[in-house]
Amino acid sequence: MPLDHDQSTLLNAVASEDGRSPHSMPGWYYSDPSLFEIEKKHVLSAGWMCSGHSSEIPKPGMYYTVTLADEAVVVLRDRDGKLRAYSNVCRHRGMKLVEGAGKAMVLTCPYHAWSYHLDGTLNKAPYMDEVESFDPAACSLPEFKVEEWMGFIFVNISGDAAPLAPGMAALEPHLANYRPEDRHTVPTWMETWQVNWKSLIENFMEGYHLSVTHAKTLDHITPTELCEKLAKSTQFTAYRSNYRPEAEQRKPYPAELTEKERRSSVLFTVYPNFLITVGPNCAVFLILLPEAAEEVNIKMGVLVQEGADDLPATRAYIELAHEFNAEDKATLEAMQKNTRTAHRPIAPLAPEQYEGTVWDFTRHVAQCLTTSG
Ligand code: FES
Ligand SMILES: [Fe+2]
Repeated sequence: MPLDHDQSTLLNAVASEDGRSPHSMPGWYYSDPSLFEIEKKHVLSAGWMCSGHSSEIPKPGMYYTVTLADEAVVVLRDRDGKLRAYSNVCRHRGMKLVEGAGKAMVLTCPYHAWSYHLDGTLNKAPYMDEVESFDPAACSLPEFKVEEWMGFIFVNISGDAAPLAPGMAALEPHLANYRPEDRHTVPTWMETWQVNWKSLIENFMEGYHLSVTHAKTLDHITPTELCEKLAKSTQFTAYRSNYRPEAEQRKPYPAELTEKERRSSVLFTVYPNFLITVGPNCAVFLILLPEAAEEVNIKMGVLVQEGADDLPATRAYIELAHEFNAEDKATLEAMQKNTRTAHRPIAPLAPEQYEGTVWDFTRHVAQCLTTSG
């Protein structure tokens, strides 16, 4: 279903900027099921969707499953240790091939036992050699483009996205000293929030709410007033939350960190579905798996440094992450309920260092939706 006239007019204006100053978006932007269908194609499937972290599947045969837009995907490490992503849909009659995560050198369908090698080709199909028209070579699992960046595994469903890394280059100097490549994830967990996925990205990416929504959990560390905007590109936007001078130093931290880096976190989003806050010791990440206009599944995890999994500081940080995420969830679910009111405003956004990232992301979405035809 196409966008209606009012939707097209507003999105075109946002995409072109048209001399507008940054503003919030109306209720339909966060609740319209027809818009969500268009987003699945032109924003989510067309982009590099994050699926997980390479430390989840360190050895050949290890896999995890994930739903990206409408596609069931299995991400695995093949016999050569290469990361690959396949359709998790059996080529016989469409059963889901594997569930959850695990390790297997052959993937076997639970319905009639067709099985597949880790290179996606068919291994066995019981009794099918008796069928004249059966061609095993035509039964390989469809494969998706995969790119690993900073240890995270991104998948492009549409097959025509430009390489991811060049679009992230402007961010790398801000991250290099945190040595993200030396970190691994603790076991990830899933949550479901009754929230539009874009609303969650906006919230995570703005520091304007820190001192209010997180008055008890974060204001004493990272208050709104110390936020600063960082680099942006067509692929990401970022900001830095600086710590109060009196806040305790987070440890352990890589020796390369500058004084400023030791005393701050870098928060960024990789469009369209990845959020992370990288601090001196840990990094909390959210991989958004939008389910409907008003529901998002979230794969969450925390990156830690080698040997730091069980440190009290790490445990305390993970506890804090659960607390501030719960605060965000309560706020966003309450706001979601206001998307159908006649009085949902379109209002100016706060200054660049506080909500500039929200406008960057809104413009990205508007551009995807309006240049896609
Ligand atoms: S659907 Fe998978 S073997 Fe039949
Ligand atoms: Fe928050």
